[in-house]
Amino acid sequence: MIWYPYEQMKTMRPPYEIIDAKGVYLYTKDQQLIDSISSWWSVIHGYKHPLLTEAIKNQADHFSHVMLGGLTHEPVKKLSRKLEEWLPGDLDYCFFSDSGSVAVEVALKMALQYYINRGRNRDKVLALHNAHHGGSLKTKVLALEHAYHGDTFKAMEVGDDPDYHFAFEEKKGVYHIPTEMSALEDAFLKHHQELNSFIVEPLLQGAGGMLMYDMAFLKRARELCDEYDVLLIFDEVATGFGRTGYRFVSDEVLPDILVLGKALTGGYIGHAVTVANHKVYQGFYGDDPEIALMHGPTFMGNALACSVALKSIELFEQENYMDKIRRITEITRRELKGFESPKVKEVRIMGGCVCLEVKEEETIRGYQQFAYERGVFARPFLKYIYAMVPYVIKEEELVKVISTMKDWLS
Ligand SMILES: Cc1ncc(COP(=O)(O)O)c(C=O)c1O
Repeated sequence: MIWYPYEQMKTMRPPYEIIDAKGVYLYTKDQQLIDSISSWWSVIHGYKHPLLTEAIKNQADHFSHVMLGGLTHEPVKKLSRKLEEWLPGDLDYCFFSDSGSVAVEVALKMALQYYINRGRNRDKVLALHNAHHGGSLKTKVLALEHAYHGDTFKAMEVGDDPDYHFAFEEKKGVYHIPTEMSALEDAFLKHHQELNSFIVEPLLQGAGGMLMYDMAFLKRARELCDEYDVLLIFDEVATGFGRTGYRFVSDEVLPDILVLGKALTGGYIGHAVTVANHKVYQGFYGDDPEIALMHGPTFMGNALACSVALKSIELFEQENYMDKIRRITEITRRELKGFESPKVKEVRIMGGCVCLEVKEEETIRGYQQFAYERGVFARPFLKYIYAMVPYVIKEEELVKVISTMKDWLS
């Protein structure tokens, strides 16, 4: 028996059964569907891409997986070299894991231990004293209201979704702020001594409702992190690889730790990476085994995942994906220009993401089946009807996705 995600199993509608997938299309027994969600925002090149499939098959002929504890291999070495060269600044140190949530856990653990290590190096006794007296040990995280960083425990804690609050009587390890400059300034002023990190989904908060905010907020956050000695973590699990219209938001504002997942492998195999800069890496580097990062997911650096990730990045670069994303933004803007409906509160467009926020949750009920019958797979939630299409989508296919949304809301 399968236990499906985010569902009341007793009342859930039976899921559509997929028997094949190619390009932007999913196939059921009786329908051909444009996947407007890219399998939770990951399948940027579409399904069954011959080069991606070939990369996996070629690697499988050698070996599919060996652990990274005491062993290494060419695909993981090549991928970490590629990321080192491809990612901005000195984001050079790649810690792989099997999912975005775990990679977020690793980032938060790195930030916490970074300051513990520094305390230990400077003066072990003082660090212990501070810990016992609730002093200036930096044990807290600053995060955004409406944040989503995954479903594991620390990721849930830094997230801000009421559906997960049942897990915490009180969120003790985190302060949440809105994406407002004054709240940002205040939080640093008040809490900086306790903060080890500020974690954000930069520019676009996905699962929190496709909320969009300004680069100026991130630039100020970078300055404040520098001023107050707090690490800046960008969770680009969803925004990475062009989704916001920037290749990575990290190209514009450099974080200390970057988390990538989802599209890292073109959505072909679950894998993620936490990339640290030089300063963070140095905080763990030395002769003392106690300052090492004690973490090691069984499937970190999986050889199939690394091989397909390398091919995915190659395609992203060689086939000018940033141009494809610009085209998607232009077509989306054109198709939604002047669109108004009494049911719609706001239309939001950024890069390869479009969201129509409706006024009442009731409005989205029935939309998924309506879209299905028109040949589009959609997965609206709460008050959000949205699309994050594969970047290889053709103009007429994207127009169909958007007109399906408009027809429902008109
Ligand atoms: C911003 C962000 N971080 C982390 C995650 C968790 O990734 P995963 O589902 O691979 O654990 C998600 C998933 O949607 C996400 O959107």
